[in-house]
Amino acid sequence: MKGSILDLAVAMPRHYIKMEHFAAERDIEPNKLLVGLGIEEMAICAPGEDTVTLAASAAWELLEKHPDKRKEIGLCIAGTETGVDSAKSLAVYLHGLLKLPSACRVFETKHACYAGTAALQMALGWAHQHPKRYALIIASDIARYERHSPGEPTQGGGAVAMLVGMADAADALLQLSPISGLHASDVNDFWRPSYQSTAMVRGKYSMSCYLEGLEAAYLDYRRQVDNLSVPDHLLFHVPFPNMAQKAHRRLMEIQGMTQRDVQTSDFALRVSPSLWANRRVGNIYTGSLYLALAGLCERKGQELAGQEVALFSYGSGSCSEYFTGTFGQRIAQPRLEEMMSQRIEVDIHQYERLMDACIRMEKNGSYQLDLPGTGAPYTYTGIHQHERIYRNNVSRAYRRSHAARANFQSSPAINAVV
Ligand code: HMG
Repeated sequence: MKGSILDLAVAMPRHYIKMEHFAAERDIEPNKLLVGLGIEEMAICAPGEDTVTLAASAAWELLEKHPDKRKEIGLCIAGTETGVDSAKSLAVYLHGLLKLPSACRVFETKHACYAGTAALQMALGWAHQHPKRYALIIASDIARYERHSPGEPTQGGGAVAMLVGMADAADALLQLSPISGLHASDVNDFWRPSYQSTAMVRGKYSMSCYLEGLEAAYLDYRRQVDNLSVPDHLLFHVPFPNMAQKAHRRLMEIQGMTQRDVQTSDFALRVSPSLWANRRVGNIYTGSLYLALAGLCERKGQELAGQEVALFSYGSGSCSEYFTGTFGQRIAQPRLEEMMSQRIEVDIHQYERLMDACIRMEKNGSYQLDLPGTGAPYTYTGIHQHERIYRNNVSRAYRRSHAARANFQSSPAINAVV
């Protein structure tokens, strides 16, 4: 038995904008976004959705697939950089909404996009001490940059929930090696002051910090491993898909493979198949690396069983980790394509109105008793007397329609907003 991810599930906002329309409205050459950054669509949150509901939706979907394991969950860690409270953890909101066992360690981790990996690694250590129990790890975020800034096209939102425990290959999605390459450095490349609703970023500098973190973490990994194997797949943190291409190129150069045509064909083989979902959702910060893992599972399916993968996690500020694993026999089926096909496309004016409406929901007094849901299992209805109020939409009928894969309904209130 090895410390493993047993399964995963993804949640994404119900609305999105196509980048060709975004580019036209912002007077940007479309290929700068489509080709230069590699983004096709960007997910947008609507009133009713926040970091908690995205996280809870992903976790609900995951636990629906593993009802027998719910009562064995002894650890719930939520990694986020879009925390909703400075004291009350995102994990304890989830604990309540998901009705997890009371004998459970719950907390939130924070380190920019690295927080999901911090949570996962902690859970893997915990799993060795508690081989009969399971950990629920959720990475959930909403990316927001200043309107009209270079970062604006690299927004997004979503969550990935993972079930972690000790497992044989037959029961694992991914068995992880205990060896990690690490690098930490105090830099100001990207940060989110608590008094702002948008991030501060030094874009080009952040890209060089990311690549320095990759190089240092990889070299640290290499120092610890006697016989380096060539992984079948390389997964990267994906702020925008072409960052993964730059990262791959850097890795190839460190390994002495400098010819561009070799790099291009290797990228197509070992990296590209994991990026399609990130292209259509955008940056989901803590969950981006694990969205790439979900995307790869959906594209490749059982073909992955027994194959090796290397993962690189980067969180601005900064902390980097390079680690590896071997796919087990239980490859996840996250139904990403299906979720995407049920989303609602908006134009730039609707996108701006949705974003403004979400920011207004973060103020005391925003509570709306009858705010309709977005079709997700939980709805954030606003703040009443300084408390965040969530509505649980899960009923027998909801479960039935979910199992029947009924289309998500865009609520009247949301239609009114957009
Ligand atoms: P920019 O400066 O507006 O873009 O913003 P650019 O001028 O560098 O162009 C982008 C690419 O498009 C370039 O490609 C251009 O050549 C190309 P490159 O040279 O880099 O390969 N291009 C075109 N291609 C085809 N046809 C055209 C065309 N025009 C130009 N017509 C930037 C880019 C990423 C800086 C901006 O979007 C930004 O600030 N984003 C946010 C920061 C970010 O994502 N940083 C990534 C590393 S840090 C990280 O990953 C951590 C993070 O996730 C946060 C966390 O940890 O919590 C952000």
